[in-house]
Amino acid sequence: MTHELLKLSTATGRWSGVGPYYAMFPREFAFDVVEQYSETGQYILDPFAGRATSIYAAAALQRYGYGIEINPVGWLYGRVKLDPAPKDRVLSRNNKLGEIANNILKDELTTLPEFFFSCYTEEVLRYLVAARKVLSWRRSPTDATIMAIILVHLHGKRETSFSNQMRQGKAMHPDYSIRWWQERNMLPPDINPVEFMEKRIDWRYAKGMPKLENSKVIFGDSTLKLREIIKMVLSGETQPFNLLFTSPPYYGITNYYYDQWLRLWMLGGNDRPTWTGEKWKGKFESKEDYHSLLSIIFQKCAEVMANDAIVYVRTDARPFTLETTKKVLARIFPNKSMEMLARPFEKETQTALYGDKAVKPGEVDIIMYPYCFGNEKESIG
Ligand SMILES: C[S@@+](CC[C@H](N)C(=O)[O-])C[C@H]1O[C@@H](n2cnc3c(N)ncnc32)[C@H](O)[C@@H]1O
Repeated sequence: MTHELLKLSTATGRWSGVGPYYAMFPREFAFDVVEQYSETGQYILDPFAGRATSIYAAAALQRYGYGIEINPVGWLYGRVKLDPAPKDRVLSRNNKLGEIANNILKDELTTLPEFFFSCYTEEVLRYLVAARKVLSWRRSPTDATIMAIILVHLHGKRETSFSNQMRQGKAMHPDYSIRWWQERNMLPPDINPVEFMEKRIDWRYAKGMPKLENSKVIFGDSTLKLREIIKMVLSGETQPFNLLFTSPPYYGITNYYYDQWLRLWMLGGNDRPTWTGEKWKGKFESKEDYHSLLSIIFQKCAEVMANDAIVYVRTDARPFTLETTKKVLARIFPNKSMEMLARPFEKETQTALYGDKAVKPGEVDIIMYPYCFGNEKESIG
């Protein structure tokens, strides 16, 4: 029944796909967990929200979802699908961007690395540079919406994106991309960016706006931002949470930034992929930091959970991440039982490529129930 909501013939289904992100929950899975482990009107928390699929599922199923996400790409997708701006405003902003693009000076383009000229035509590049310069995506709902739609189509197959042939989920290294296009004599596709965006906006809004309960995703670091949630619960603005449904970053995996370098450039970041200046990288590469990241965040979550709350955490099956997560959760939620479900990958994924070859790659769902709950819930098949 809930899967009906995810069909592209519905507004909820259409907006649920915003946008391509690394290590995202399958939508059906998120809808199933929300439906099975919470009741209508209850509160759901995700401190590692990614593109906010968990929060969106909560909002679409008449629950209240609150998420936090540190990566601006994931945060923007979540923020926009939970509350898109009215279509007419997005269309008129798109036209305005077209006008601004005409006034972008050649000098503003020539400072960009060669990659950009092999990936996009000059006309597209002017539009993107204009959008990067003027869109106030953190504050304005209209600018956030148009920026999120640009990000979805920033790179991917030639027919459906602004770019020369690329993967949609991951931006390749510039040198590799240039070589790949040169070997195949592939030039950037000739696109009128304003018309291209008009079509994408029409498609996204064609079934209307999703009907959602009030829910939101906060931009920032959960080690700090959970304080806002704690205050909201203490002041009675929200009730204690009934379901903690999340998936933390996996130890040793830093791709959330590297693979999104081109989308992060659109949001004001570097014009080439780089590891430097990414203050979160260390959190996933030092065992000690990884342990303390999980401890701090889950401890703060515990402060806002109802006594009979359920905890549902999807994580990596590889030993360090799994054992650390289990240990931290068992310490922080001593009054809950713990059950585990193996979730082997059906096919090789990016995560598997970084895996310990000795271990069968996959994920594990850790589910914690209050002891009084009786553990009578069935696992999701
Ligand atoms: C496994 S992904 C979650 C994906 C998500 N379930 C989805 O469907 O998109 C982990 C997420 O945690 C985020 N993250 C890592 N450290 C964080 C922190 N300190 N505060 C908030 N988010 C963080 C990463 O940016 C990444 O998006």
